[in-house]
Amino acid sequence: MNKLKLPTGKQFLNGELVLHTNNGYTLIPYSLNRVNDFYGSLGHSKLWYPYYRGNAVIDSIARAKDHLERRIDECQNGNRFPWMIADENDQIVGMISLMDISSFHNHATISRIAVSPDFQKKGIACAAIHAVMKWAFEEAGFHRLEADVSMKNHASRRCFEKLGFAREGVRKEDMWCADGWHDMAIYGMTEGMFTG
Ligand SMILES: CC(C)(COP(=O)(O)OP(=O)(O)OC[C@H]1O[C@@H](n2cnc3c(N)ncnc32)[C@H](O)[C@@H]1OP(=O)(O)O)[C@@H](O)C(=O)NCCC(=O)NCCS
Repeated sequence: MNKLKLPTGKQFLNGELVLHTNNGYTLIPYSLNRVNDFYGSLGHSKLWYPYYRGNAVIDSIARAKDHLERRIDECQNGNRFPWMIADENDQIVGMISLMDISSFHNHATISRIAVSPDFQKKGIACAAIHAVMKWAFEEAGFHRLEADVSMKNHASRRCFEKLGFAREGVRKEDMWCADGWHDMAIYGMTEGMFTG
């Protein structure tokens, strides 16, 4: 098994892992300097309903700041790469993370993807996931990527299915969401399945 080629958290936050999508968007590292833009784009409580609840819902500047601080901390500890998705004018339009990074098994989980309501259904989520996959399999040397998605989240499931992830199983009533229990689909892709 090869050794993963990853930046340190500090290198990541300094912009050493900026990714470009195939439709003109850029994945840039989380930065507290962008808290207002981040909140302006993603601070809509409806965006998160029903999948997130409590302080995971970014519905105030304080929660946006708290979210950024926590993810930046996790990044510094080597547990997460958190990106904001920016358009060609550097406007923040979404977010995506790679978390649960294991250098022991060369796997990780794609998580916390969201696109601002004004920018949805333009292919941004799929393109951002694809950019992360491409880097993870072709450059970093990951063997497997995974995503956990609520069975009720048709948009998110469509993204992973369209990109070739296999639905490997469903965990029944695994997540307590704002509207009750959700079954969670486990999506997986190995490096051999990735076609570029
Ligand atoms: C899930 C989410 C990130 C998708 O973002 P997006 O940029 O609109 O997705 P894309 O434009 O790349 O669309 C991907 C596919 O999903 C489909 N889709 C988008 N919104 C949909 C919806 N509400 N219902 C069903 N399908 C939908 C698109 O039509 C597209 O499929 P197609 O190419 O066959 O037409 C976005 O809906 C979102 O931010 N949701 C709230 C947060 C969330 O649920 N995050 C996921 C947690 S796992």
